[in-house]
Amino acid sequence: MLSEAKNRILTQVGPGTPMGDYLRRYWHPIGGAREFDAKEVKAVRLMGEDLTLYKDLSGTYGLVDRHCPHRRADLSYGYVEKTGIRCNYHGWLMNETGACIEQPYEDTANPNNKLKERCSIKAYPVREVAGLLFAYMGPLPAPELPVWEPFTWTNGFVEIVTADVPCNWFQCQENSCDPVHFEWMHDNWSIRQKGDLGPYSPSHLKVAFDEFEYGFTYRRQRVGQEEDNPMWTVGRVALWPNGFYLGSHFEWRVPVDDENTLSVTWFFTRLPHESEPYTPHAHTWHGPIKQADGRWISSHVINQDIIAWVGQGAIADRTKENLGASDRGIALIRNRFFDEVEAVAAGREAKGTIRDPQKAKCVELPIATPKLFKDGMPRKEYLNHPYFGRRLRDFPWHFGQPTAVRDAFREAVLGEDAAAFTQDLEKAKA
Ligand code: FES
Ligand SMILES: [Fe+2]
Repeated sequence: MLSEAKNRILTQVGPGTPMGDYLRRYWHPIGGAREFDAKEVKAVRLMGEDLTLYKDLSGTYGLVDRHCPHRRADLSYGYVEKTGIRCNYHGWLMNETGACIEQPYEDTANPNNKLKERCSIKAYPVREVAGLLFAYMGPLPAPELPVWEPFTWTNGFVEIVTADVPCNWFQCQENSCDPVHFEWMHDNWSIRQKGDLGPYSPSHLKVAFDEFEYGFTYRRQRVGQEEDNPMWTVGRVALWPNGFYLGSHFEWRVPVDDENTLSVTWFFTRLPHESEPYTPHAHTWHGPIKQADGRWISSHVINQDIIAWVGQGAIADRTKENLGASDRGIALIRNRFFDEVEAVAAGREAKGTIRDPQKAKCVELPIATPKLFKDGMPRKEYLNHPYFGRRLRDFPWHFGQPTAVRDAFREAVLGEDAAAFTQDLEKAKA
């Protein structure tokens, strides 16, 4: 249980709030670069700020104020040029540093005026890594953008899935340090959703949490598992400050404002040996979270998590909760955030930020089953493998995978046999 004041510290993300200032010390993923195959400009809201994200005709990304410095028109309706974004009202042109570089009528009628110098707008750096766009909204110089080691893996199929989640980011992130929910929310609820009454999945016997440079790990032992099981020896990573890393994928909970979060996920699925060499190109799609009748979609793992998050309310009221032994990880990350917010306000570096460019080039994280993601296996084995075989039939993590992405994955795995595989599956269903 927390006081209202402490709950506010955890949940407010706007500029000038303690957590808002703290979170601005990190690069945040804000979507997939391939979204910009089909568009050039996008309206975005991040940490309570309305912004315009664009890719100009030279391929440079910009993240600038939503409003034009002239008379405040909406720049997300602007159009891009070789350099920068042009306001659609009177044609002023802004570049990725926020400088106003053209004012067409002023430049003609009054060429020596100094108006441009007064008209720069807010602008934040944007970088692309592994098909993701990352933005940094804090004080400069920005820390290095970490290239997590999985971003360097080869011969995998990469998917980026985003979802708009109508609640505060922190309750989503608490879920990243909450091992016990897996048993009930994913395993057992899925059994019940299939119409079965049991048997329920093996229960948790013990959980443990450890802090490391880039976050916390949680570990679990369930009935029937020995202590040498990688879920006990290595576990999963609550990636600081708002990520979750599970080996197969990353999830980030990016604050849109105090009551909305952008879920950004990056999936790597190793392909069989016969598919090598394969260069990933990050299929990017947006996942729906609501059914037509207004209830939340509950069939896929992350959709189930989202039901937990939004169910806690737009901003979870932590004055009314009752924490137990299963919640030790939650208490740990909250306390670390309180300490960090104070430390950064006092001028210290934020936890896990990297200033050494060499170090940022490939940052390793604990992985419970690295061979599964890195080594691959012959196609024959792959088809019968409990993880990959299932993955080939259905994308289990997020509802709404487009058929074209599903087919691209099957083709990457099975080559020319992919169409026959899909037909057989459909026949079996019918
Ligand atoms: S309002 Fe943007 S150019 Fe006039
Ligand atoms: Fe979960």
